[in-house]
Amino acid sequence: AKGGYDHFMLKEIMEQPESVANAMRGRVRPGEGQIKLGGLDDVLPQLTAAERIVICACGTSWHAGLVGEYLIERLARVNVEVEYASEFRYRNPVLDPERDVVVVISQSGETADTLAAVRQAQGAGVLAIGLVNAVGSTIARETDAGVYLHAGPEIGVASTKAFTAQVAVLAQIAILLGHERGVLSDEDFETHVEALSKIPEQIQTVLDGAELIERMARDYRYASNFLYLGRGVNYPVALEGALKLKEISYIHAEGYPAAEMKHGPIALIDQFMPTVFIATRDATYDKIISNVEEVVARGGTVIAITDEGNEGLDELAEYVVEVPKTLDAFEPLLTVVPLQLLSYHIAVMRGCNVDQPRNLAKSVTVE
Ligand code: F6R
Repeated sequence: AKGGYDHFMLKEIMEQPESVANAMRGRVRPGEGQIKLGGLDDVLPQLTAAERIVICACGTSWHAGLVGEYLIERLARVNVEVEYASEFRYRNPVLDPERDVVVVISQSGETADTLAAVRQAQGAGVLAIGLVNAVGSTIARETDAGVYLHAGPEIGVASTKAFTAQVAVLAQIAILLGHERGVLSDEDFETHVEALSKIPEQIQTVLDGAELIERMARDYRYASNFLYLGRGVNYPVALEGALKLKEISYIHAEGYPAAEMKHGPIALIDQFMPTVFIATRDATYDKIISNVEEVVARGGTVIAITDEGNEGLDELAEYVVEVPKTLDAFEPLLTVVPLQLLSYHIAVMRGCNVDQPRNLAKSVTVE
């Protein structure tokens, strides 16, 4: 069942070229001038006209939601808010059926708080759309419309391939809305569709370099604290990298937007705490480099995830992991993969039960 791998988590990480392709199959077609999301057909006019999209989810799915916020705001220029479903449901949120659409994201489709967010939205007369992996699950049934992730069953408790499928679906929604709303020209639309359709093979390239991550894991397996920093669309990736490490290797880790480091976490930096930077050459690259320098100046160790061919970090970082170049907006689909592998290998080396971490359940059906 584990397809020859020692753990479901590793199988699911390795399967991502295929699961992301499945999340796009029949939907993203370069050269055809359209993205076809059948489950949204009936609500597309309302979604396109929405003045605000409120994304609700928990855990890793919430991190995917944060990536979605960047994608939808950047490509479609719609105001997006991302909420923890547990907070949203009890806050008596201000919702307007004329302006708002709620989008929930869930791998299992059974998360109690996320389901409650659906009911909250519907109770206020607001359209609720679900991005769900488990076919026929409660959230899939109760939402007004939705898109299945088609990532296939995820058995490992730590979510990996569901996250990339969620981001791939959010990217499709962002491009589709951008085009419908006239923000993306036909040409921009095509550029994004083409870039997105290359992602599965680019994930494979990242996976082919997995040996470096294993060596890295060996060096850092005894650390008791990790800091993960990223900016822009890679900030949620920092959060996700930290969550993966916490949940399966029981190492304390925190994710922050890189610029926030100065406002507190910098006090923690010493030679015993590795800092993982997701530092691709996008609009804020120069800024993140100064953060890297600040860490190095304080004796901290840096692991950098960057894009192919960037030698600018070689002198500063202990390890540099390169991922193929894509459009800035789609980087999380590649930069998250080395972080999944890092937490996997560290957990295995520490003797942790990777697929069944202590105290965690695959679907959280109680609040
Ligand atoms: C982390 C993880 C959890 C889930 C969260 C939401 O690896 O698996 O944080 O992401 O419990 O679950 P779903 O997506 O099933 O609603």
